[in-house]
Amino acid sequence: MSASSGRPFAVAIVGSGPAGFYAAGQLLASAAPEVTVDVYDRLATPWGLVRFGVAPDHPKIKSVTRVFEKTALKPGFRFLGNVEIGVDVSHDQLAAAYDAVLYAVGTPADRRLGIPGEDLPGSVAATEFVAWYNGHPDYADLDFDLSAERAIVIGNGNVALDVARMLALSPHELAVTDTADHAIAALAASEISEIVVLGRRGPAQAAFTNPELRELGELELADVIVDPAEAELDPVSAAGLEAADQTVRANVKTIAEYAARTPAGKPRRVILRFLTSPVAIEGDGRVEAVRLARNVLEAGPDGSVRARSTDSHERIEAGIVLRSVGYIGTPLPGVPFDHDHMRILNRDGRVLDPVSGEPLPGVYTAGWVKRGPSGVIGTNKKCANETVAHVLSDAAAGALPAPSSTPDALIGQLRDTGVKIVEYHGWAAIDAHERALGEPHGRPRVKLVRRAEQLAIALGEALSHSG
Ligand SMILES: Cc1cc2nc3c(=O)[nH]c(=O)nc-3n(C[C@H](O)[C@H](O)[C@H](O)COP(=O)(O)OP(=O)(O)OC[C@H]3O[C@@H](n4cnc5c(N)ncnc54)[C@H](O)[C@@H]3O)c2cc1C
Ligand SMILES: NC(=O)c1ccc[n+]([C@@H]2O[C@H](COP(=O)([O-])OP(=O)(O)OC[C@H]3O[C@@H](n4cnc5c(N)ncnc54)[C@H](OP(=O)(O)O)[C@@H]3O)[C@@H](O)[C@H]2O)c1
Repeated sequence: MSASSGRPFAVAIVGSGPAGFYAAGQLLASAAPEVTVDVYDRLATPWGLVRFGVAPDHPKIKSVTRVFEKTALKPGFRFLGNVEIGVDVSHDQLAAAYDAVLYAVGTPADRRLGIPGEDLPGSVAATEFVAWYNGHPDYADLDFDLSAERAIVIGNGNVALDVARMLALSPHELAVTDTADHAIAALAASEISEIVVLGRRGPAQAAFTNPELRELGELELADVIVDPAEAELDPVSAAGLEAADQTVRANVKTIAEYAARTPAGKPRRVILRFLTSPVAIEGDGRVEAVRLARNVLEAGPDGSVRARSTDSHERIEAGIVLRSVGYIGTPLPGVPFDHDHMRILNRDGRVLDPVSGEPLPGVYTAGWVKRGPSGVIGTNKKCANETVAHVLSDAAAGALPAPSSTPDALIGQLRDTGVKIVEYHGWAAIDAHERALGEPHGRPRVKLVRRAEQLAIALGEALSHSG
């Protein structure tokens, strides 16, 4: 396929996480011979949450980047890092320069609990804590007070497990990871010895995947503790267990096994609590405790199992609270947004005009910002595939508006206005530099966490300041 003018069919992908890279790979592998794909990212480094989300003690998961590296080497591919859409370049400029624009920008913000005290110092969104320990440049200067004995993690998803585990790992376990150096130092000095993970529903409703849950039971420095009374299933969940999926049954079994364990007396404890909802975060000027309501579970009219708070309350003291109840998308200027679901307004990847409800020709979306913040890395492959199929079929049907400019003209304009674009070879220089820093210490890499440092390596510039 090529655009009607005879030039290549040009697609801009915004976001270089899994969804963006899967979409790029699929477009470049399509039967269409003359496709070019420019992948933009606001950061100088690609891979999205594979670099800034996936826990540093899970290096095998990060090796998915090898697939994306192959895509980056294909003819027709360009990486344009350090370019923020909505800041450095507008949606309209992209739409004028490309045949199609595909947004894969992820869902970077945190879902709110909506309870009193949520914004007290010491009440932290997991989105921030995760980005901090993973060396995201926007979060490198955060400072978390880890001097209390107890931390509370709110939520029962895999991110809550990542956060709890990171707090429980020994310095020796962290030392061989690519955890940002500032976080390794802060976690080594941490005095947290008890991490309480709060689920509002029961073991059968936890959103954990089973290998991640079992991993918690194998920590060098921490016992995992579950109150047998909370591990016991309520009648509604017990009745549904046989028909439940394999992950649920495995989780229930693992949690029962933890409840039956005698603690080995390790210096740290991870306590999994169930049927408890935070109703307030309390403290005089900073977090001192979380007030909880005890819940009972009941079946909703749609068959779902819901938590209902009772009058029974409890107060647990803690010096830090990590709110891990999910991510949400944020609107991009000029791109229709679905405020009910906090993601781009779309139908199966075609972005919709909010007035007509019909597809906006040439504008697409994939990944978490298309379908919401759930699913593992591989889920984005199928998701991107659905969107790319629409791009290709719309192009074949002649349904895309003809661009009035070109990608090269736009990129030239960006450079003229002083945007320092990091291309793939620039990222490759950062990658090689980070790996070389890590190698003598048996670490996969030592991350550069400052934009200025990254740009200096990527663009061969002198390092003028530390920000
Ligand atoms: C803490 C955490 C740990 C996880 N661990 C695992 C795991 O171990 N295994 C697993 O399979 N899955 C894991 N996941 C899930 C996995 O990371 C996601 O499924 C996946 O990253 C979503 O891909 P995405 O491309 O939609 O978004 P993202 O990965 O978020 O990528 C979005 C990209 O868009 C860029 N961007 C955003 N706004 C702009 C803009 N305006 N202009 C230009 N670029 C922009 C961002 O910089 C980013 O690079 C984890 C998720 C989280 C949150
Ligand atoms: N190793 C891995 O494979 C890995 C690691 C990290 C993340 N991921 C994936 O990334 C995705 C996002 O993970 P996530 O953990 O952010 O989200 P998630 O899986 O959606 O879990 C969110 C948790 O927050 C709870 N919650 C929501 N609102 C709440 C409230 N008001 N009060 C108390 N609890 C509340 C939810 O409980 P309810 O169920 O009751 O709503 C749920 O337990 C998931 O698909 C996850 O599997 C994978």
